Amino acid sequence: MQKNELCEIAKRARENSYSPYSSCRVGAALLCADGNVYTGVNIENAAYSPTICAERSAFSAAITDGKREFSMIAVAGEGDVFPPCGVCRQVMAEFCSADFSVLCVTPEGYREYTLCELLPHAFTPENVKGDTL
Ligand code: THU
Repeated sequence: MQKNELCEIAKRARENSYSPYSSCRVGAALLCADGNVYTGVNIENAAYSPTICAERSAFSAAITDGKREFSMIAVAGEGDVFPPCGVCRQVMAEFCSADFSVLCVTPEGYREYTLCELLPHAFTPENVKGDTL
């Protein structure tokens, strides 16, 4: 899977965004280690706080389908660069390694960041070592 292809999938997914309150349309495409791709969109809510971001929608779909290993995610939002919010970065840190790639789609192509660049000194499962992990 080429990075450009994943960005195109995220852009197509964005068309299904449910964002009547912000008019901010966001789509995400998550590539799993096994080559499968799951998409997500932001889903807003009249009560505002139940809103879920596109990135977490994509992770929810993949995890529900039993996936646990991920290679990269492409995020297509509004404007020039649409960086993932802090909550989405934290969800990525739960499942992805520091070198996980985040492709932020731009009008010209994409900007690539590692998860470590977006969320340095992350709080991860390693910090909650218990018998069940
Ligand atoms: N949004 C995302 O989908 N992903 C992010 O990482 C940041 C924000 C959505 C949530 C809301 O529907 C809209 O963008 C404006 O915040």
